[in-house]
Amino acid sequence: MKSRVMNNKPKLSRRDFLKLLSAGGAIAVGGYALSEYAPWLDYAGKAEDTWMKPAQISSPSEPMQTLVHYATLAANGHNTQPWKFAIKDNAIEIHPDYSRRLLVVDPHDRELWISLGCALENLLVAARASGYTIEVTYPDRADFIHVQLAADTPQGSSLFDAIPLRQNTRSAYDGRLIKNEDLDQLQALQVEPGVMLQFATNPTAMDTILEYVNLGNLAQYADTAFVDELIEWLRFNKKEALSSLDGLYSACSGNPQVPRFIGQMFVAGTKPQQQADADAAKFRTSPVAVVVASETEDKSAWVRTGQVYERLALQTTALGIKSAFLNQPIEVPELRGQFQSAIGLGSYLPQLLVRLGYAEAMPRSLRRPVEEVLI
Ligand SMILES: Cc1cc2nc3c(=O)[nH]c(=O)nc-3n(C[C@H](O)[C@H](O)[C@H](O)COP(=O)(O)O)c2cc1C
Repeated sequence: MKSRVMNNKPKLSRRDFLKLLSAGGAIAVGGYALSEYAPWLDYAGKAEDTWMKPAQISSPSEPMQTLVHYATLAANGHNTQPWKFAIKDNAIEIHPDYSRRLLVVDPHDRELWISLGCALENLLVAARASGYTIEVTYPDRADFIHVQLAADTPQGSSLFDAIPLRQNTRSAYDGRLIKNEDLDQLQALQVEPGVMLQFATNPTAMDTILEYVNLGNLAQYADTAFVDELIEWLRFNKKEALSSLDGLYSACSGNPQVPRFIGQMFVAGTKPQQQADADAAKFRTSPVAVVVASETEDKSAWVRTGQVYERLALQTTALGIKSAFLNQPIEVPELRGQFQSAIGLGSYLPQLLVRLGYAEAMPRSLRRPVEEVLI
């Protein structure tokens, strides 16, 4: 386990923060209004271009580049997009981009490889829909995923149609129960070897999970290194989101746009208990939680975990169900083993925790263009 570097920066008290907020408030609100209405910052237009079906886009026009575009629409930790793609003759390789790793929350690159697995799953679903059969070589020895493609008959699917609609919806849900037939379909989802899905719906199981999410939040938000890394990947306004085309844009999580100095103070000033309470309230609106777990802890298992998660996310999207992560009890090393036994996973290792439910869609996240992720 990598030790976390505690940062001894002086902490702003809530009162100081509020004073600063009112002093800077007028300037901030003025700047915010300007950026909000500035016609040259068309976030919605950029998001639409990103997520519309590539067939409708003039670029990327090459079929292999189109598959890479679909891969980049996958879920990935902090929207770091930690990938690079190499297009070969009838093959695509997915490589890690270690310059985008999250050293604090993901010191062993576990979530980085899960993110590559998510990208792989989108690529495979899109490749089948475009008329390819596929053979995957997992990263056992090599440090990348190799996807061999051979021309075949196109097999469209509801999962393919769901790629441009999938998103992490971090809002409160409306509390409705998931329809039984839909839950059955999710529970019957095909998984990869060595990966399992564990569903929780009953109050006792949900309470146990929530208890660990709370503990995870308390640990993470008391850790300055975790908060600093999160702030680095937060995009507090349209201007920041549009200039980097990555990271976590405030509006996607239902937060207002603010100048960086205000957002930074606000996040750094968040009390661990506030964060735990906010997530607990959202969790209570979610009728189902799902844990993705794997038999082993290695790159191939992480990639397969990412595939199964992305498949689940596409299937829920196709059924009109929203999902969001609550990985805190798995990301905090001291809690992971306790969480594993508390939820009865046996020897399987928890890798991801997700809540499901019904809600309106949130603003979409952005992606860097294909040209920027090609080797
Ligand atoms: C391995 C992994 C871990 C993630 N962890 C979290 C998390 O703890 N909390 C969260 O809100 N989102 C989490 N996400 C979701 C990403 O932030 C999200 O996929 C990314 O911002 C892109 O947004 P989109 O999925 O809506 O396209 C995670 C995604 C992956 C693949």
